[in-house]
Amino acid sequence: EKGGYPDFMLKEIHEQPRVVRDTLAGRMAGGMLTIDELDLSHDELNLIDRIYVIACGTSYHAGLVAKQLIEGWARIPTEVEVASEFRYRNPIITPTTLVVAVSQSGETADTLAAIRDARVRGAKVFGITNVVGSPVARESDGVIYTKANKEIAVASTKSFLGQVVSLTLLAMLLAQSKGKLTTSQIKLLFKELADTAEQIETILSDTAAIDKAALACKDACSSLFIGRGLGAAICAEGALKLKEISYLHAESYPAGEMKHGPIALIDDGFPVVAVATQSPTYEKTISNLQESRARGALIVAIATEGDTEIEKHADYVIYIPKVRDCFSPITASVPLQLFARAIAVARGCDVDQPRNLAKSVTVE
Ligand code: F6R
Repeated sequence: EKGGYPDFMLKEIHEQPRVVRDTLAGRMAGGMLTIDELDLSHDELNLIDRIYVIACGTSYHAGLVAKQLIEGWARIPTEVEVASEFRYRNPIITPTTLVVAVSQSGETADTLAAIRDARVRGAKVFGITNVVGSPVARESDGVIYTKANKEIAVASTKSFLGQVVSLTLLAMLLAQSKGKLTTSQIKLLFKELADTAEQIETILSDTAAIDKAALACKDACSSLFIGRGLGAAICAEGALKLKEISYLHAESYPAGEMKHGPIALIDDGFPVVAVATQSPTYEKTISNLQESRARGALIVAIATEGDTEIEKHADYVIYIPKVRDCFSPITASVPLQLFARAIAVARGCDVDQPRNLAKSVTVE
C-alpha cells in the first residue's frame, strides 16, 4: 500500500500535485471564484473585519501563510494563534469576526475547544479539515475539505499543502468579496495557482541537490531555518518537519532577527537553511546569508531557478521553478519536506512513526 515507495511520507509527498489539482477542482466558474460550502452570502463575507486562524503544529504554519495572503489581498486584519493559547485567553470577538480553524484530523482537542469557545462568543467559524464528517467539520458553520485523502505518515506533508492551497483560495475569495482583486486578477492568480501542481512535479522529478545537501547536514546537532515574509512561514514548517522526524534540532527565525540573537549560535559547519526565492526581500536575505557564512555556517539555500548569483553565497543550492511570491509556500515547502526526510533516513530514523508523536492529538 506504499505504492512502491519506501515509506508513506515519501508516497504522500509525491501525491501533492494531485492534492493541488483536486483542491482547486470546480472552484472557478465563469470568472468567479466560489467556495459554496462556506455558506456565507457575498454580503456576510463583505462584513468580515477581523480574522483569527487557529490551529496547532503544521496546521498553524499553514495559518502563518494565510495571514500574509489575507492581509495582502483582502486587507482584513488577521491573527494566527495556536489553539491552546487562543482558548485560554480572552480574544476580541464580535459578530463580524471570522474564525478559521485548520486541522488535518479534524479532531485535535485544543482546536475543537477553540471552535466551541469562538462560537459561544458569536464568531462565525470556518473549518478547514481533511477528514469528512470529523468533529471540526461538524462543529463549524462552514467547512472546506482539503483533498489530501488519508494521510498515514505522522508528519504532515500533503495535508499541509492542501491547507495552504485552501487558505490561498479563501484569501482570494475574501479579496473578491471586498472588491480588492478584479475578476481578471483573480483569473490570472487562479491559473498560476493551478500551475503549481506541475511545478511540484518538476521539483519531485530531480531530488539530487536536496539529497546532497541533506547528507552534508545529517550529523549536525542543531540548525537554523531563515527566511522573510512568506519564506519565514515556510521556514517554520521546514524546521518542524526536520526536528520531528530526524530529531536534529531545528529552529526557524525571520532572517532579519539573526543579528538579534541566533547568529551567536553559528560556528564552523552550523547548518543554516534559507528560503531565498525571488521576493521583494531577496537582497536582504542574501545579506543574512553573507553574515552567517562569514561566521562559518554551512548554507543550504532554496532559490529560484536561474538565480546563479546565490551560488556565491551558499554551499548548497536547491533550485525550484519560478513562481509569484504569493505561491512560493506551495512550491518551496516541498524541497524542505524532502530535505527533512532525507536527513531522517540518513540518521536511521523511522520517518513514518517518529517517537513520542501521535497522528491525532485528541487529548490536551
Ligand atoms: C506535524 C504534525 C502536527 C499536526 C498537529 C495538528 O507534522 O502533523 O504538528 O499538524 O498535531 O494536527 P491537526 O492538523 O490534525 O489538528
